[in-house]
Amino acid sequence: MSSNTNKRPLFDKSTLPSRHATEGIDRAAHRALFYGTGVTEEEVHSPIVGIATCWNETTPCNIDLSRQAKVVKNGVREGGGLPREFTTITVTDGIGMGNPGMKSSLPSRDLIADSVELTVRGHCYDALVTLAGCDKTLPGMMMAMLRLNVPSVFLYGGSILPGRFRGKDVNIIDVYEAVGQHAAGKMSTEDLHRLETVACPSAGACAGQFTANTMATVSEAIGLSLPMSASVPTAYQAEHDRYAKAAGETVMNLIAQNLRPREIATRKAFENAAVTVAASGGSTNSGLHLPAMANEAGVKFDLEDVCEIFKKTPYIADLKPAGKYVALDMYKIGGIPVLMKALLEGGYLHGDCMTVTGKTIEENLEHVKFPLDQNIVRPTSKPFSSTGGVVGLKGSLAPQGSIVKVAGIKERKFRGPARVFDKENLAFAAVQARKYKEGDVIVIRYEGPRGGPGMRETLTTTAALYGHGMGEKVALVTDGRFSGGTRGYCVGHVGPEAAVCGPIALVKDGDIISIDADAGSIDIEVAEEELEERRKEWKSRPTGHESGALWKYTQLVGDACDGAVTHRGASVETHVYADIELDD
Ligand code: FES
Repeated sequence: MSSNTNKRPLFDKSTLPSRHATEGIDRAAHRALFYGTGVTEEEVHSPIVGIATCWNETTPCNIDLSRQAKVVKNGVREGGGLPREFTTITVTDGIGMGNPGMKSSLPSRDLIADSVELTVRGHCYDALVTLAGCDKTLPGMMMAMLRLNVPSVFLYGGSILPGRFRGKDVNIIDVYEAVGQHAAGKMSTEDLHRLETVACPSAGACAGQFTANTMATVSEAIGLSLPMSASVPTAYQAEHDRYAKAAGETVMNLIAQNLRPREIATRKAFENAAVTVAASGGSTNSGLHLPAMANEAGVKFDLEDVCEIFKKTPYIADLKPAGKYVALDMYKIGGIPVLMKALLEGGYLHGDCMTVTGKTIEENLEHVKFPLDQNIVRPTSKPFSSTGGVVGLKGSLAPQGSIVKVAGIKERKFRGPARVFDKENLAFAAVQARKYKEGDVIVIRYEGPRGGPGMRETLTTTAALYGHGMGEKVALVTDGRFSGGTRGYCVGHVGPEAAVCGPIALVKDGDIISIDADAGSIDIEVAEEELEERRKEWKSRPTGHESGALWKYTQLVGDACDGAVTHRGASVETHVYADIELDD
């Protein structure tokens, strides 16, 4: 890299992908199209940085991303690059929850990664800054960064401010649970209406350590985001913009250093990410998204690996849904770097992992002081529990594994008769009609990646149970997923799923199911011979999606334990996009 008279850094494009689109006599027509968008002759020969957002107008978590992207672009320009903004699709779980829309949510993660890949490949971009703010959009964007392996920075759109209702801070999960309270006659229609109008007072992602904030924590811990950038609420625009501009400048440094995402997101970095999830009582969806991201990097890190880390990690952050605090409180004490500092000092993080700053985790945290005058994050010597807030379970009901969030749960063992529902809506209707008993294990099946299709989240049902005051008095077991906002004894990702005749397909009403979060087991107390008989009688069932995007998804998607991915990943690739040649 050198400088010209205007102090705009100059880059050698002879090895960058964009040389195929902008350099040489043959590319005159290509350059003409760039000029038609307002690009100057100097800019067209700069590195081209794709600025990918998941902006849309559906929910507060995405609404500010396009504005933030404009700030990122200023940083790229000042660093000597040519930013090119584009937008992917977004499917927002909060709107799809409890209705057929949720089937589109997990498939959207992979489509986001695919669409970023095709945009970058199609236009020979050299680098990426990705911006996202909702559950599937964060992993989707980071998957694209790892798949393409061009210098990249991830920027979280930030979280929402808490709402206020009857003198208490509230968030979106309070509204879901209020629906259950209303059904149980514990909340008036007027109060429910008032709550729904005040629960989401600003732009930003849902406030607890739900899936978006969990994956935002991952983005800092794995080294793909600037430290602290994922901790700033969306509404704190001036501060967030400083990180947005820095993200643009940083990606230009990464191009100069040729530092790529797969050099950052190594196996040890994935372990760091899983440690921060467990320590913060983060979302069980991380058990799906971390393996999917690892697949893009060619790193073996499946559900079992994730759960091994969870088992060894102390739970130290008192964050909702299990705890008391939200992302704004975390920000006030110093954000994710404080959590990471506690874990580093306790010996739970690999401090030598590289990050987008060009420094290691340990170097980034050097000047972070762990604050003692707060109750949100504890040192690892005084944890809430010595194992992580999320636990892996395996056994005769889930030979490929499953996952349960135990943060905030008093009883770690559960044994009871099954109440079986083939689809979530049937379970929700039964729960709302109080057709279940204390001690039941509610089984919701045919909701896996293939069977749903799309591995729906079942927050409406779990929230309704909490609303009835039965949150921990029944267990819920599913081959689908749970929202990051779910509380209670809820086991998800049970594999193999019912659609491929996993044992969950063979459960009948009244079968005893036993779950032990300490032993890491989940079993069906039915003799193997009896299960074999039921297996012979089992018939596959149509999903109701024989064409379109969801049918395509069912043809490609793999098991939940491997991240429910739709392609074979980096381990079989013959060349990486970042090194693309003309005949590739
Ligand atoms: Fe997007 Fe909650 S709806 S983060």
